Amino acid sequence: MKIIEYNNFKVQPLAGALGAEILDIDLNKINDSIFEEIYKAFVDYQVIGIPNQNLTPDEYLAFGRRWGEIHHYPYMKGLESHPEILEILKTETDTYAFGNVWHSDGSFTEIPPKATMLYAQELPPAGGDTLFADLYRAYDTLSDKMKNILGSVNGLYVGDQPLKLGNFSGAKSMKQQDPGKTKVHTHHPIIRMHPDSKNKALYIGGHAVEIEGMTKEESTPILNYLKAHSTRPEFICRFKWSPGAIAIWDNRCTQHYAVDDYSGFRRRMHRITILGEEAPY
Ligand code: SIN
Repeated sequence: MKIIEYNNFKVQPLAGALGAEILDIDLNKINDSIFEEIYKAFVDYQVIGIPNQNLTPDEYLAFGRRWGEIHHYPYMKGLESHPEILEILKTETDTYAFGNVWHSDGSFTEIPPKATMLYAQELPPAGGDTLFADLYRAYDTLSDKMKNILGSVNGLYVGDQPLKLGNFSGAKSMKQQDPGKTKVHTHHPIIRMHPDSKNKALYIGGHAVEIEGMTKEESTPILNYLKAHSTRPEFICRFKWSPGAIAIWDNRCTQHYAVDDYSGFRRRMHRITILGEEAPY
């Protein structure tokens, strides 16, 4: 695939729809202008991969803080030494891979994370890829009539646990916690304008359960259609992990799915989520 020249690095697209890898940068050596260009690539491609990084948790967190305030995932505890970093772990004996359902991170929170970064620590010998779907294309390819209808409605987004979205009991190696007083269901517009690109995206994923003002019987088939439509193969890229790779994705215009095809092997990743702008926008 064609290599694109930015000022500070080269970028290799991963698919026709979205996703790219940034080549030859060391995140320990970036300055503000390189960061600005990384952010530009993130807005241009929605998901960026940065291979071959060697960051301590402190350095990784410092990089994360360049993106904004840290968002805390209410259902799991972070690392003891760095509570802002969530360890996503599936061991040889666990039966569930965290994130093994199409979703946009934290869409059930009042101000969802704009970005998520995931840093590969240990990988299975094969598999364990992450799929990403382009929610701009999902919006653009709807009929004008459907765009009009959805343009004036809110969806109800509910957290993993009340929804039983993930089988967390099979993810025994992760440190679960009770969300306590954190609100884990909320309404957001189903169509959102991205604050940077100004493009419209369909805000859909496993956490979207109802359309406000419609009965469940009315909204379920519409949401099921939108969930199926938004994950058409044409809208997807597949991120293949390598040791030391970091992927950063934009939750405002993508959803993702952790592929659980490495039963009996271990996969360990470090995740940081970055708080978004005030919702809705
Ligand atoms: C997630 O859903 O945040 C995790 C994705 C992955 O582990 O690939």
